[in-house]
Amino acid sequence: MLCIGFEGTAHTIGAGVVDDDKILVNESKVFHPESGIHPREAANFHAKHIADVFRDALEKAKIGPKEIELVAFSQGPGLGPCLRTVATGARALSLSLKKPIIGVNHCIAHLEIGRHTTKCKDPVLLYVSGGNTQVISFSNKRYRVFGETLDIGIGNMLDKFGRLLNMPFPAGPEIERLARKGRLISLPYSIKGMDVSFSGILTAAKNLIEQEKKENLCYSLQETCFAMLTEVTERAMAHLDKNEILLGGGVASNKRFQEMVNNMATARGAKLFVPKQEYCVDNGAMIALTGLIMYKSGIRMKIEDTEIKQRFRTDDVEVRW
Ligand code: ATP
Ligand code: FE2
Repeated sequence: MLCIGFEGTAHTIGAGVVDDDKILVNESKVFHPESGIHPREAANFHAKHIADVFRDALEKAKIGPKEIELVAFSQGPGLGPCLRTVATGARALSLSLKKPIIGVNHCIAHLEIGRHTTKCKDPVLLYVSGGNTQVISFSNKRYRVFGETLDIGIGNMLDKFGRLLNMPFPAGPEIERLARKGRLISLPYSIKGMDVSFSGILTAAKNLIEQEKKENLCYSLQETCFAMLTEVTERAMAHLDKNEILLGGGVASNKRFQEMVNNMATARGAKLFVPKQEYCVDNGAMIALTGLIMYKSGIRMKIEDTEIKQRFRTDDVEVRW
C-alpha cells in the first residue's frame, strides 16, 4: 500500500513516500531564518514549497498521483500556522484523489521511524530537537512521556545561546565544535523529578559571556544539559526495565551527546540506536510510515477529525499497532 506523508510542524516541509514497510523517498526543504523561527514566515515557506516537495517525491518514487492510496500529515504538536498550512494541503490532496487521510502525532512518528530503520523493538526514546525534549516509551497501550522539558527545548536553548555569540542559525553544530576546546565551569543542574528545564542554565551562561571563554561556556552547556538528559533517561529505563535507547531529533547528531548516552547504556548492559541523520531530523518519511501503520491497525479519520493540534500530547494516541 502506497502512502504519502507530509511533515510541517516547524521549519521543515517534507514529503515522504512509503510502500508498506519500504521507504521509497524522503524529500524535504528546510526554512533557514536569519535568527529565530517566526511561525508565519515558516508557514509561508511551507505554502511556497509544499507543491515542490510533493512533485519531487512522486518523480523520485516514479509514481503518479493516482497511485497514492493514503495521505498522512503531521497533525501536531507544532507551530499553528505551519500545521494549518500543511494540513490544508493534505486535505486538498485527499479530497481531490478521493483517498483516505490520517493525522499523525509528530513525536510518535520520530519513534516509529527510529524503530523501523534501526530495528530496535521496545526502546526508550530520547527525543531532543529544537522545540521538543522528551523521554518517551511504550507502556500500557500508549507511548508515554516519562520526562520532558518544563520550559524550552534543548535545541532552542542552544540556538538562543548561539545567537548571543553571533553564531549562524541553527547554532548546535558550531557549539559542538567550540566545545571540543573547552573545560568545565559550573552551571545550574536543573532536574525536577523526571523533568528538566533549560532556561535557568541559559541565563546563567548568558551572564558569564563577558568573563568566560566561549569554548568553556559551550563545553559546560553541553556537559550539563546532556548529563541531565542522560540521567532522566537512565531513570526511565530502570523504572520500565527496558534495555534499548533510541535517539531522535536534530540534537541527537551531536557526537558528545551520543557518547554520553552510550556510556550510560554500556554501563547498564543496554544498547543505543541512532537513526541516520535524515531520519533523526523532521522528515516526511516518518509521517508516511506512521500514518500507514495507523491505517493498517484500523484507525480511520474523517476530514472533520483532521483539525490540527498544536499541543498534541504523545499519550493522547491509543497505540493499536
Ligand atoms: P521539532 O522537531 O521540535 O519540530 P526542529 O524542527 O527545530 O524541532 P530538528 O530539525 O529535529 O528540530 O533539529 C534542529 C535542532 O537541532 C536545532 O535546534 C539545532 O541547533 C540542533 N542541532 C543540530 N545539530 C546539532 C549538533 N551537532 N549539536 C547540537 N544540536 C544540534
Ligand atoms: Fe521533530
